[in-house]
Amino acid sequence: MIDDIELARALHVLFVAHWIGGVSFVTLVALPLARAASDARKGWALFESIESRFSAQVRWTIPLAGAAGLWMTWRLDMWPRFADPSFWWMDAMVLVWALFMIAVFVIEPFAHRRLEAQAARDPEGVMRRLYRVHLVLLAAASLTIVGAVAGSRGGLFP
Ligand code: HEM
Repeated sequence: MIDDIELARALHVLFVAHWIGGVSFVTLVALPLARAASDARKGWALFESIESRFSAQVRWTIPLAGAAGLWMTWRLDMWPRFADPSFWWMDAMVLVWALFMIAVFVIEPFAHRRLEAQAARDPEGVMRRLYRVHLVLLAAASLTIVGAVAGSRGGLFP
């Protein structure tokens, strides 16, 4: 029988898979398709409809991934890890989580109208900018996943 810590770890990975897997799909499939559309406005509309549906879902999975992570940290008293450079991936997890929380709960609701207005004038430019931001976030999240899986089993380096 698994205990609460192993359950939290399993749920943590499930929520992270939904969230970062979706970021990967939006970045590597939806955005390139939208940018390649012959009519940029139609491309923007396609991206917008995919992103708004996904963003409604990650408003649940991002906080839940953080809650499961915090539960493990608290139960196993892992706090000293945050000050230990060999556990850089613990800090990376919190940093990536905080960036996405800010993006989804602060920037998106408040900057949505401005972005819409910019996209009405220059959809290609807005999608190019969003693509770059998504790529950087996806790269940071991917590095964090590699660091966390390897780190929780002894690390990447001897
Ligand atoms: C508030 C944010 C977060 C906290 C407090 C947190 C905490 C934790 C803790 C305590 C562990 C277990 C480490 C161990 O067993 O030694 C863990 C594992 C893991 N976390 Fe996070 N995490 C957070 C966010 C993230 C994010 C943003 C990602 C991915 C981008 C992530 C991906 C993972 C992965 C892949 C594992 C390894 C699971 C395994 O193979 O055992 N976490 N996390």
